[in-house]
Amino acid sequence: MPAPLEIPVALGPRSYVVRIAPKGLTMIGCQLNEIKAGPKVALISDESVHSLYGEAVLASIRSSGREAYSITVPPGEASKDLARLGPLLSFLARSGLGRKDTVLALGGGVIGDLAGFLAASYLRGVPFVQAPTSLLAMVDSSVGGKTGVNLPEGKNLVGAFHQPRLVVIDTETLATLTPRERSAGMAEVIKYGLIADAPFFRSLRHGMPEDFGPIIRRSVEIKAEVVSKDEFETTGLRATLNFGHTLGHAIENAAGYGVFLHGEAISIGIRAAAHLSHKKLGLPLADVREIEATLAASGLPLHAPQVSDPLTRTKILSAMKLDKKAEGGVNRWILLPAIGQTVVTDHVSLDDVEALLSLIATPPGQF
Ligand code: NAD
Ligand code: GLY
Repeated sequence: MPAPLEIPVALGPRSYVVRIAPKGLTMIGCQLNEIKAGPKVALISDESVHSLYGEAVLASIRSSGREAYSITVPPGEASKDLARLGPLLSFLARSGLGRKDTVLALGGGVIGDLAGFLAASYLRGVPFVQAPTSLLAMVDSSVGGKTGVNLPEGKNLVGAFHQPRLVVIDTETLATLTPRERSAGMAEVIKYGLIADAPFFRSLRHGMPEDFGPIIRRSVEIKAEVVSKDEFETTGLRATLNFGHTLGHAIENAAGYGVFLHGEAISIGIRAAAHLSHKKLGLPLADVREIEATLAASGLPLHAPQVSDPLTRTKILSAMKLDKKAEGGVNRWILLPAIGQTVVTDHVSLDDVEALLSLIATPPGQF
């Protein structure tokens, strides 16, 4: 078995490592020893992931001498909801978790965000470990400490920064992930190449690799570097991780959670941001086409026919107004002057956005 690979996330007293280890889930108990976790662990998962990996993780926790408690929520974005938190908080209290005990998130980004916020709020903050099982969670949501839930008005509008003590990525869990979910994770991988590493982006031109290890590693390295320089998103650097998200989040919200997977909505948002980069910053059209082809090669959608419906357009515009990153009702856009470089701007007019909505209602080649 290859040795686990460790990527440090340097955040002073909140530093931790992201450990990429095939079969890492069966070694969770030893890893809890390494971070000196307390005597109780609450495992939070969704029903699908729990049925695949929950028992093995519980056995590993118990083999380390700890008491393990387990609770599940239904799979899917709808579980990232405020109404879920009350019963989960009561579950932690009834299980007698104290300040030194650990909340362990086993699952995709929905579980990581929900369990992370649970850990941030219970007793004003308890230790938290991420065991991401979807590609999207491995490369993005498990690293960096953004936790939270959605409101009907918009995505991730309630939350807290709460860094995990450890992230354990067991790449073997990707074997059970559906091809559609794997594609959705590729949207965030492609994003990293576009904002920070042109050769990495170009390596993704032919679609998903057989071995996900190297792309997970490079994605986590880029995220760890950005987060360690701008943990609380104050300098604008961390905002670049939201390339494609200004419109992507609004599409996800307007279509109704579950219609587009998060990564699918981001793919459409990346296409829009690439065209806007051409219009505003002169990103060569050949690069825009390459971006579209790279997204398509990973099985990602490039358009949303629903956007031709005036009601959906109105909903997208309202969702954009509620974007967390909007200041004074003005959205912040991440654009590419060149592949691998970013500019953050709020100089995007309503006419520009309307033109983008017409663009994303239509497949490439027809616009
Ligand atoms: P998800 O958690 O809903 O997981 C996707 C689906 O895959 C679920 O049905 C789940 O049961 C299933 N699944 C997960 N792992 C599996 C496995 N190994 N085998 C079989 N099935 C498996 O969604 P996601 O795409 O992982 O995450 C999306 C969420 O992440 C969104 O809510 C998004 O806002 C959030 N996110 C957060 C951050 C952050 O920085 N906190 C970053 C990006 C995305
Ligand atoms: N996914 C964006 C961030 O972590 O900042």
